[in-house]
Amino acid sequence: MKQKGTPVFKPAIEQEELDAAREALELGWLGMGSYVGAFEEQLRNFLGVKDRHVVAVSTGHAALHLGLLLAGVGPGDEVITPSFNNAADFQAILATGAEPVFCDIEDDSLCIDLKSAKRLVSPRTKAVIVMDYDCMLCDHDRVAEFARDHGLRVIHDAAHSFGSKYKGMMVGSFSDISMFSFDPVKTITCIDGGALVVKSEEEVSRLHEMRLIGMSQPAKVMYTNARAWTYDIKSIGFRYHMANLHAAVGLAQLSKVDRIIESRRASCRYYNRHLKKIPGVVAPKTDFDDITPFLYYIRVPADQRDAVRTFLGEQGIDTGVHWQPGHWFTLLKDCRRDALPVTEQVASEILSLPLHSFMSTETLEAVVDSVASFFLQNR
Ligand SMILES: Cc1ncc(COP(=O)(O)O)c(C=O)c1O
Repeated sequence: MKQKGTPVFKPAIEQEELDAAREALELGWLGMGSYVGAFEEQLRNFLGVKDRHVVAVSTGHAALHLGLLLAGVGPGDEVITPSFNNAADFQAILATGAEPVFCDIEDDSLCIDLKSAKRLVSPRTKAVIVMDYDCMLCDHDRVAEFARDHGLRVIHDAAHSFGSKYKGMMVGSFSDISMFSFDPVKTITCIDGGALVVKSEEEVSRLHEMRLIGMSQPAKVMYTNARAWTYDIKSIGFRYHMANLHAAVGLAQLSKVDRIIESRRASCRYYNRHLKKIPGVVAPKTDFDDITPFLYYIRVPADQRDAVRTFLGEQGIDTGVHWQPGHWFTLLKDCRRDALPVTEQVASEILSLPLHSFMSTETLEAVVDSVASFFLQNR
């Protein structure tokens, strides 16, 4: 059954993904195998990370969990992260036995406010998770300095910024530990998938074991669609490996990543050009140079946000809210935190509009017209 109207997200599934999925299914080796090895290699080429290693896993959440474990985070530790972040980040911190500690974000970048983070550093702080929000990037030089000053590990959540560049460097090529998500709605999808980019062979070996319920099963062997029947288990592990079918879809997506990037950038530039003229709407302050946008957000007056959503919904235009901040959730409401005025404000104003790869001009026009009509009628 086809979806009606304009969804907020829509994966770019074309003939190459269908062919890739069929091929992977016909191969009959559905678990981790040759496609996963090839996906890691293609990802490494795309990122241009000759001095780093890519490890594919089952989801972005799994990547975060393993990244935190790699950083030595465990029970009794604290991890500072913006409350304005994805629930997967909070749950990954909790899964290690550590506690999330919430800092604020900057009003212009919607990324971590390092002054707020600094106020939260304690003897228990082990790491910081910084996240690039959609088309905005953190000030990663200052993040590295902050981490150095306080002896912290950095997990760079680049789920939104896959394919973007920071000061000319590919996201994923410069942070302590970087992670990506390739879930169903991301810029490129593996159906579900994630990846970590790390610096050393030793970290790769640990990740290879942890993603395969602790088994010292050589990836080299598995990437030939075979497995060793004897292995050791020396440490804790999870069933977090990527499946061949998913990697095959990811490879098909990577083969057209330039087209995907260009089309998303062009759609966001169209939105920005038209939406920033509408009184009541604040569009992202970027020209999208060097940015691969994952979602497109606007900010609208908090007391009108729900009405805008309803109005667009009535015209078949789906919208999203990314996100409810962490400290609003029952599970996390008692976590230690700084004052979060910007987070509170942004969380009540933010609105995601439809953004897909290869969106037609008619669809973009329809979204812009609907937003414009709403604000014309509700001045
Ligand atoms: C910023 C961010 N981090 C992590 C994740 C988790 O990734 P996954 O859905 O692949 O587990 C998401 C997913 O939406 C995300 O947006």
